[in-house]
Amino acid sequence: MSFRLTYATMFNPPEAMHQRFDEAMARVSAGLGQCHELFIDGEDCEAADYARRSSPIDSELVLGDFALATAEDVDTAMAAASAAFPAWRALPVAERARLVRKVGDLMEERVYDLAAALTLEVGKNRMEALGEAQETVDFFHHYADDYEQHAGYENALPNDPLEGMVSRNRSVMRPHGVWVVIAPFNFPLALAGGPVAAALVTGNTVVCKAASDTPWSGRLLADCIRDAGLPAGVFNYVSGSGRDVGDALVRHPLTAGITFTGSVGVGMQLLQKMATGPWPRPCIAEMGGKNPCIVTEHADLERAAAGIVRSAFGMGGQKCSALSRLYVHESVASELIERVQEKIAAIRIGDARERENWLGPVVNTGAYDHYAQYIALLKAGGAKLVSGGSQLREGDLARGYYVEPVLAEAPLSHPLWKQEMFLPIVMLHRYRDRTEAMRLANDTDMGLTAGFYGSADEVAWFQEHIEAGVTYANRPQGATTGAWPGYQPFGGWKGSGSTGKAIASFYYLQQYLREQSRTVVE
Ligand code: SER
Repeated sequence: MSFRLTYATMFNPPEAMHQRFDEAMARVSAGLGQCHELFIDGEDCEAADYARRSSPIDSELVLGDFALATAEDVDTAMAAASAAFPAWRALPVAERARLVRKVGDLMEERVYDLAAALTLEVGKNRMEALGEAQETVDFFHHYADDYEQHAGYENALPNDPLEGMVSRNRSVMRPHGVWVVIAPFNFPLALAGGPVAAALVTGNTVVCKAASDTPWSGRLLADCIRDAGLPAGVFNYVSGSGRDVGDALVRHPLTAGITFTGSVGVGMQLLQKMATGPWPRPCIAEMGGKNPCIVTEHADLERAAAGIVRSAFGMGGQKCSALSRLYVHESVASELIERVQEKIAAIRIGDARERENWLGPVVNTGAYDHYAQYIALLKAGGAKLVSGGSQLREGDLARGYYVEPVLAEAPLSHPLWKQEMFLPIVMLHRYRDRTEAMRLANDTDMGLTAGFYGSADEVAWFQEHIEAGVTYANRPQGATTGAWPGYQPFGGWKGSGSTGKAIASFYYLQQYLREQSRTVVE
């Protein structure tokens, strides 16, 4: 049976989807333990050193050995991408779009295997993994279609009056050169694949670096690009540490532009580095979130509870879009808390390969330790843990990084209202009037996503006043998460994003291009 995965199927998956995922998991698991190389200039390249990585699901589940690139490997990859640039940018729009679409087609054929690998590598549950794999496919198709439909964003402009002569004017959009993509661990396929597709279709060549926790997903993306037959050097893949490889990429003289997805701290440093040198270079930095949700006394509380739980705890809160601050009108707070508690109690935590487990492990030992530190800080700062707070070390869970979802009612003076935690922890405050709720919701340096549950009349007020790039009202599928290419443009304001142009929006591809005004007098 063949059917297209969509965002909707994630909430109501047909049985065949589970079967196909289980088959893919068996197939992918049977191939674990291999050595994964760099991909440079159309070839698999051995590295000087490799890191053995195991799954956050179970430390004894070895995924394989993954190449650690050096600064010399970065040089080789940059040189290959630079050499491939003139021929790649010279291809007609339709030809580049065809090749980028073909990568998407190949990924779609492998979508279940890709999802199985995501579950193993990051510990996300099967529906989140399938969602991410399909989202990546959709990015390739969406950007190819978008670029073609807008004919490369070329514009014929009016001729200007010149006595006896014709001055023909056009605006053309041209690629920058070698574009570097630095992907995060939490969406290692989609947030590598999306920017890679955008950079490629617009005529840039690419060097892509995976997060140090997720070299496998990036390499699987490289396999799809290789198998689609893109010319050598157009796409290159390096894995390794952010400190060594990331820094070498950012400082490289051939780096013409960067898309970075990660923390605000690293993103702000990157923006500064890209502004130094002989000229400023473009940097699309997609950074963190400290995403609020406001629930008014007119809200449908069942919808609100469903959306809150999905967005705060899905993938262990390790999403820049995750809900982390909840402002509830005091008259409905107790009832909402009860409903959220019930839903938390129904969450199955455990091995993310198993169908019944909705919440898998957090990504690594660092995240696991941070959880304990945040719980201690919450308690020390006078927060009341309404739900959760324990690390789960018993039985089958002892060799993974499993933690409970946390709902914490915290005084507004608590420092964790300001700090992104990237864990399944949501803080709650009962408010008296909605003006106060809006002031608190906006009292943050970030502005990625925001949720709202209330009456239809209140929605316009929320969207007008909230300082966030992505807003959702009365959405049971997720209070603050779950943007899908082509439906919800996804980008942050303030510290959450550097350009104010959202992923998969009308404006996104234009960020990978520079305008050339062309005037010819005949
Ligand atoms: N697309 C994901 C979401 O919206 C995050 O990148 O939750």
